[in-house]
Amino acid sequence: MDHIEIEKLKSTVSKMMIDGKGVLAADESTKSCNARFQSLGIPETEEERRRWRELLLCAPGMEEYVSGVILYDETIRQSDSDGKLFTEILKEKGVLIGIKVDEGLQDYIGHTGETVTMGLNGLPARVQEYKSLGATFAKWRAAFKISEFTPTDDAIRENAELLARYAVICQEHDIVPMVEPEVLLDGTHDIEKAKEVTTKVLKGLFESLAKHHVHLDGLILKTSMVLSGKDSENRADAKTVGEYTVNVLKECVPAEVGGVVFLSGGQTPDEATENFNEIAKHEPLPWKIAFSFSRAIQNDALATWAGKSSNIDLAREAYMERLKNNSLADKGLL
Ligand code: 13P
Repeated sequence: MDHIEIEKLKSTVSKMMIDGKGVLAADESTKSCNARFQSLGIPETEEERRRWRELLLCAPGMEEYVSGVILYDETIRQSDSDGKLFTEILKEKGVLIGIKVDEGLQDYIGHTGETVTMGLNGLPARVQEYKSLGATFAKWRAAFKISEFTPTDDAIRENAELLARYAVICQEHDIVPMVEPEVLLDGTHDIEKAKEVTTKVLKGLFESLAKHHVHLDGLILKTSMVLSGKDSENRADAKTVGEYTVNVLKECVPAEVGGVVFLSGGQTPDEATENFNEIAKHEPLPWKIAFSFSRAIQNDALATWAGKSSNIDLAREAYMERLKNNSLADKGLL
């Protein structure tokens, strides 16, 4: 694969992994975005989603804390209320444009309660189009549920194979893959179990990436933190989460990987930031790290906005406050 221009990929990675900045996940599918709107009584329309994304993407000063934004197909084509494309606005701010390229989860036949991620069909053409729209990186999410019987080795292998194939397609188009194997927070498991599962998932992923000759220095890992299950009786504290997460990553993630970013995964916003801060206290690590939250950054701002123009300023304040705290946490300074 010597036609891959590794220097281009590395340059994108280094722009994404700037100290004190993170990658905003604003790539919720229409269905996920609508579900959040519904719970707040916001109309589930394309125009409301556009207004919400405008609040986030066009907030003055967000570029101080945000190196890149992951967009959804609908958003990468949308404009602000004056008709200027969001992609143009982001470029002017020096914020990199990312795109979600997977097409969601489907049941993994024969494996009750497990999923595989869709989206490889036609992916080269879609990646080419997103590149022409300004994207420089692309995300693909696989999800693994912890239960007595899951995840199975089959599901780990199958999803790792899909992640590796998508990563190759991205790199062939000079697009940095942001590879996201999420171990879900749902469940009653303890942190030891999360450690065991996350270790297996990451090892399986890096085996597949090696098999497909993916360039690790032109790739970003988007990972869950190692956490006790949401309904676990004795949830581990932030210091323990920091230690477990760093130990698992050091064991499983090769030092050549371009960067490691964290999803929030349904933690409360404060919890996600506090845990991230504890992880960052272990720096220097073999790779740069950053936050890449959706809910932990957006939730309070969305509830404050609630679809009303008169609330935009207050909602932006809440958003900027979350960004600022996560920026401090990136340096372990919270
Ligand atoms: P959360 O931070 O809400 O988990 O979202 C991050 C993400 O990109 C999920 O795919």
